[in-house]
Amino acid sequence: MNGSRSRHNNKKENTENSFVAPHIAVLPKSGIRDFFELVNSMDDVISLGIGEPDFVTPWNIRESAIYSLESGKTHYTSNLGLLSLRKAICGYMTSDYDLDYDPQHECIVTVGVSEALDLAIRAITSPGDEVIYHEPCYVSYSPEIRMAHGVPVAVNTYEKNDFALDPADLEKAVTPRTKAILLNFPCNPTGATLSYEQTEKIAKIAVRHNLVVLADHIYTELTYGEKTPSIATFPGMKERTIFLHGFSKAFAMTGFRLGYACGPAELIDAMMKIHQYSMLCAPIMAQEAALEALRSGRKDMLAMKAEYRDRRNVIVKRLNEMGLKCFLPEGAFYVFPNITSSGLSSSDFAVKLLMEKKVAVVPGTAFGACGEGFIRCSYATSMEGIKEAMDKMEEFLRDLKKIKINHEKDGKPACRVQVSHTCRGV
Ligand SMILES: Cc1ncc(COP(=O)(O)O)c(C=O)c1O
Repeated sequence: MNGSRSRHNNKKENTENSFVAPHIAVLPKSGIRDFFELVNSMDDVISLGIGEPDFVTPWNIRESAIYSLESGKTHYTSNLGLLSLRKAICGYMTSDYDLDYDPQHECIVTVGVSEALDLAIRAITSPGDEVIYHEPCYVSYSPEIRMAHGVPVAVNTYEKNDFALDPADLEKAVTPRTKAILLNFPCNPTGATLSYEQTEKIAKIAVRHNLVVLADHIYTELTYGEKTPSIATFPGMKERTIFLHGFSKAFAMTGFRLGYACGPAELIDAMMKIHQYSMLCAPIMAQEAALEALRSGRKDMLAMKAEYRDRRNVIVKRLNEMGLKCFLPEGAFYVFPNITSSGLSSSDFAVKLLMEKKVAVVPGTAFGACGEGFIRCSYATSMEGIKEAMDKMEEFLRDLKKIKINHEKDGKPACRVQVSHTCRGV
């Protein structure tokens, strides 16, 4: 007892009087979360900040979850997930992605893509291994890698390339410690996609340097132009790619928390071990609902996609018309306009727009330092809301211009935004 106490005390001293492990203590909290605490404290905000579909899950999918409960399906499933669902997922992989996976050994059902990503990173990463990803990117990537004691290596993407990952930049980041490349196209937060040629070049880099590829395909169904084949389909890639996907975005099922991973049996088996000891299995009613989504959800999915496409066209046109340069993204439900013409930083722009016009957008810096000069606007909100938000943003820019002109006349320095303490983390 005494022995364990003194070990415990030593531990506290070593971590500067904290019980929290140092590698967790240093993790920053998500910039999106901080910002939305502020948004949530205000009334009547039009939010272009949300990263989830505004549509309610189609009724037949909800009904199958209800039926699962009604019929007493309230127990654990196999650790890998219901075999019927794994078979349906593998069927979908064949029909929609031209990839054949064995439902018994090459597919695991997870709690969202979030868990699939965590399992994949933990399954492949030894302490000090480098994982390359592209920035601006989804907020979880770097923390996930660090939580697995890996080293996150960000490769910037640029507006001049419509935020596609330049394969040459990627290859420059490869070192003898590189273990994997993490890709997310269509991309959150930029909406960027990769061309066939770019994907092929990245595949060749992965093969040349013997790297694993984690392909986060969560937005692939929401591709408005021609869908680029998954990197897993290129020569030498299926055996080194973990295909991460889920139901949150395409089927409007964020609250169901259902995702999956397909990949080589050895890697899926390693992921299964972590899943088995941490999560055990995904909830059965969500699995039943996901099965229904794959059986009959395509029509609703395509209808939602058509609506997103219309909204994208409107928002991109309006942003460009008001002087916020924005390329036409081919995927996801985000646009990433350049706001440097406003003279404000990303954070100041977002806070001031929220305070003055009650429109919420996310500062580009929430997705990596190279997001400075940009904001993320989600068009997963009604067309009416988008139009109103665009009117208000236009008004906001007009007001800014007037203030600037008046200050120039008075010879005063241009106005600076006062950011309260609550906003500093944005
Ligand atoms: C790129 C990306 N990957 C993964 C996720 C997590 O999705 P899920 O709801 O399936 O956990 C998100 C959620 O926004 C995302 O944008």
